[in-house]
Amino acid sequence: MPLYPYGKKRTIFKEIIPNQIWSFEQLQGIYYVAVPVRLSVIKVPGGLMLFNSLPPTPELLKDLKMLVTKHGPVKEIILPTASGLEHKISLPSLSRLFPDSNLWICPGQWSFPFDLPLDWIGIPSKRTKVLFDDGLPYPDLFEWFSLGPLDIGLGRFQEVSCFHKKSKSLLVTDALIGIESAPPELFDLDPTPLLFHARERGDELLVDNFDSRAKGWRRIVLFASFLRPAKLSIPSVVEVLKNSFRAGLRNPRAHFGIYPFSWEKDWQSSAKNLLSPKGAVVQIAPVLERLVFPRSKETYLAWLDKVASINGLRWLISSHYTAPLRFSRNDAIDLRRKISKKDWAPSKDNWSFLNWLDNKLVDLGVVPADPLKVFKD
Ligand SMILES: [Fe+2]
Repeated sequence: MPLYPYGKKRTIFKEIIPNQIWSFEQLQGIYYVAVPVRLSVIKVPGGLMLFNSLPPTPELLKDLKMLVTKHGPVKEIILPTASGLEHKISLPSLSRLFPDSNLWICPGQWSFPFDLPLDWIGIPSKRTKVLFDDGLPYPDLFEWFSLGPLDIGLGRFQEVSCFHKKSKSLLVTDALIGIESAPPELFDLDPTPLLFHARERGDELLVDNFDSRAKGWRRIVLFASFLRPAKLSIPSVVEVLKNSFRAGLRNPRAHFGIYPFSWEKDWQSSAKNLLSPKGAVVQIAPVLERLVFPRSKETYLAWLDKVASINGLRWLISSHYTAPLRFSRNDAIDLRRKISKKDWAPSKDNWSFLNWLDNKLVDLGVVPADPLKVFKD
């Protein structure tokens, strides 16, 4: 897949819960709309368990091997999602590097355009077990529970969350996110995506300063959340070309000055629900709400009820954006209350494009109108 940063992936390694959980983050995205994706490592008896995968670059392997030397071998690798391609794509290469590990995968794996057997997509079936169907890893140490399944037409949406009792941390894949208003540290290694999106036109140079980085991040979050935010328009090809190929911008880094976006003056306010200057707000990602759960709010709330019942919950570790985030049972109850009251999967403003896309997919028969029907029958 043509995913940014096109073979030059950098990794940020952090200990996020002292002596218990570590995080590897890399950027993944398209056309400089890149957001952090996370692999979490949890200490288990005699070794390590990996929750989600990332491309095993030399940089990532160096730190992972350091953890192995200190805490023992990689014993389990978990693929906790049935549909999240960005979390699946590196599982084959990562699992080959740890041939003695066991793989645990979310039920209902599928591939497109053909539904292929696991081995054909690089997942070694001999050492792979299916979560719930074949048991669960370390049931004494973790509480495992599922969000979904839902029928999303091409396959199913399902993710398996796990609560690590010792560290009081809930690990999720896409179910919940929290985004800091400051750009993630990963962009310190190369702020180009931020600077690229901080401009108004293609003939502006990429300027690196605090404001450009913050502005670029805000726009990237809007893109990643709504695909086509309301305050964005696409200029004509003539207009785009008129501002392209200017001096200082004739290079691949600046995409040769080709910048096919135009933001309205008051675009800033349209990101206010996603980014708060007070810190990351734990929430459901708009894409998930509008494209996966638009007709199954109850399924999402049932999962949130389960989260709200976890004794001792203290941390949320999502596989995207910021982690760990403070998140207690009361926070889960508050979020549930907020979601119950809110206009779920709206269709106006920032949500218009997602709404259009969802309606189109239902009209074309790609997405079923009742995502639970197939599981009820
Ligand atoms: Fe994801």
